[in-house]
Amino acid sequence: MSPPVRADSDNSDSRVQKGYDIAPVKLKTKGLNHALVGIGSYLVNAQADCNGCHTSPDYGPEYSKDPTFVGNKAPGVVNPAAYLGGGTFFATFPGGANIFTRNLTPDITGLPEGGHTLDQFIDIMRAGHDYDLAHPPCPATGAEGCILGPPATPLNGNLLQIMPWPTFSHMSNDDLKAIYEYLKAIPCIAHQGPVPLPPGTPALPSILYQSCPAPDAPDPK
Ligand code: HEC
Repeated sequence: MSPPVRADSDNSDSRVQKGYDIAPVKLKTKGLNHALVGIGSYLVNAQADCNGCHTSPDYGPEYSKDPTFVGNKAPGVVNPAAYLGGGTFFATFPGGANIFTRNLTPDITGLPEGGHTLDQFIDIMRAGHDYDLAHPPCPATGAEGCILGPPATPLNGNLLQIMPWPTFSHMSNDDLKAIYEYLKAIPCIAHQGPVPLPPGTPALPSILYQSCPAPDAPDPK
């Protein structure tokens, strides 16, 4: 159920209600900016396809109703049990780093995507900065291994790979703030519960695991 939309100027943006309508999980909006959460949901779920990469397993006949599978019809349903919890495995890069999407859900502190602040989040989206140093340039080894740089490859292990931050870097500050506010409102995924992963997925890196508030804990402020 979507909360009622107030008739102030922010909420007159039609993306707000649409954002609430399409959010695939129950949102905890207490203490959050209602309009920003709605716009953030719209950007994440209707435009930027964050869940296409950051939800694992995202689609598949056994988990959801992705219309690209035979027998399923549009619009499809995202797997809510894994929503934005990260863990999609992309590739092993030269040097041995396994590139996984990260957990974007709020942790026990209530801050989204691994407890990063808004300023850090904006820096990640604009500059691809990897605060977790998950795969530093070789020979140093991070949580996901290391990335072999020049002269063997042109890769910079200090920056996020595959993540389309070069495109997202053009988003306005307002839009990035809205996405961050929305990420505070989604359920925490600890990766300690029975989140099913496709067979053959390499072990999840430790940085995807986090503590979640108890289910009956009050909404984060
Ligand atoms: C094409 C796939 C893809 C899409 C789409 C995508 N991401 Fe990512 N994202 C990744 C991958 C892969 C990583 C980890 C990269 C690495 O380890 O080098 C990542 C990392 C991140 C990180 C760093 C997390 C941390 O803890 O430091 C953030 C934040 C993030 N993504 C947010 C988003 C948001 C928000 C969206 C939608 C606006 C999005 N991503 C869309 C693939 C994607």
